[in-house]
Amino acid sequence: MLILGIETSCDETAVSLVRDGREVLSNVISSQIDIHRATNGVVPEVAARAHVGQIQAVYEEALVVPIEEVDAIAVTAGPGLLTSLIVGTSFASTLSWVHKQPLIPVNHIYGHILSNWLEREDEIEFPVVVLTVSGGHNDLVLLRSETEFEILGETLDDAAGEAYDKVAKMLGLQYPGGPEISRIAPKGNVNAYDFPRPMISSGDFDFSFSGLKSAVRRELTGNFVEEDVAASFQEAANDVLSSKLIVAAQKMSAKEIHLAGGVSANTNLREMISKRCGDVKFRHPSNMTFCTDNAAMIAGAAFYVSKDDWLKPGMAIQPSPDFGDF
Ligand code: KG4
Ligand code: ZN
Repeated sequence: MLILGIETSCDETAVSLVRDGREVLSNVISSQIDIHRATNGVVPEVAARAHVGQIQAVYEEALVVPIEEVDAIAVTAGPGLLTSLIVGTSFASTLSWVHKQPLIPVNHIYGHILSNWLEREDEIEFPVVVLTVSGGHNDLVLLRSETEFEILGETLDDAAGEAYDKVAKMLGLQYPGGPEISRIAPKGNVNAYDFPRPMISSGDFDFSFSGLKSAVRRELTGNFVEEDVAASFQEAANDVLSSKLIVAAQKMSAKEIHLAGGVSANTNLREMISKRCGDVKFRHPSNMTFCTDNAAMIAGAAFYVSKDDWLKPGMAIQPSPDFGDF
């Protein structure tokens, strides 16, 4: 089954064609990073206008087969910025109406979770414990199959990606901050600061990163070496993420451990999990472009969305920042 995916939940305009949840025929992403650097963060109205300007061109580039060969149109329906979601869902609804193809609303976080299936041929063994960690979400999820899942824990305040972005901003680094922290951290000393590891031994699978962020802020009053702050912060944040992921995997007798979402691009986090996962198979997205927001993960996940949840051609989607729990 060939599905066209559309993703506009935040600041990436993306369209992709994916066959049977795995084979990526095209994956076009138009990033708005340069636009949002001027304001050091995403202004929703500006993001929405940029999506409007880009979506037709991105769609045309991604459509590498005649549209008649596409079986369904999938689109991120939430969570995300409402004004950004409206651009993608309106575009998808229109395509579905014009070409008489069913419409599949996909939860953005579910898309990130299924990103580990993209461009993989081997079988995934269940149960899987997945940590999906981005700017807007931070969840530990147990998967019993592609469609049966249980949320084990989530962040009580900031997501780890948000903490990366805010610490980078405090250090005067450019937007988005996560890649900047991971770029300079290898030049710093991880032991320069003894930053807290919030909730690392809480006995549950929830997270909290606002205390870590405040601890970093308190250190930035006098003289400091940017690289040392970045290295010590990254070590603390990744220690919490990987520890809780490993404990959850042990408790759930997971056959595989997965990492997904924007922060899965972080090399230090990948290495920490690899060192700690023992004999359990560890996967992160097979390609860097599947870590941060993309439409391949939406088209891939749509393959597993029950046909009962597909919408008839031309039906309008109600995008919502709180689109269900998954
Ligand atoms: O999944 P994503 O593109 O958007 C959301 O769904 O939120 O994730 C974006 C987040 C940002 O917070 C960004 O700073 C972070 O992922 N990120 C990273 C890295 N690359 C992206 N964080 C740490 N290290 C990276 N290499
Ligand atoms: Zn995302």
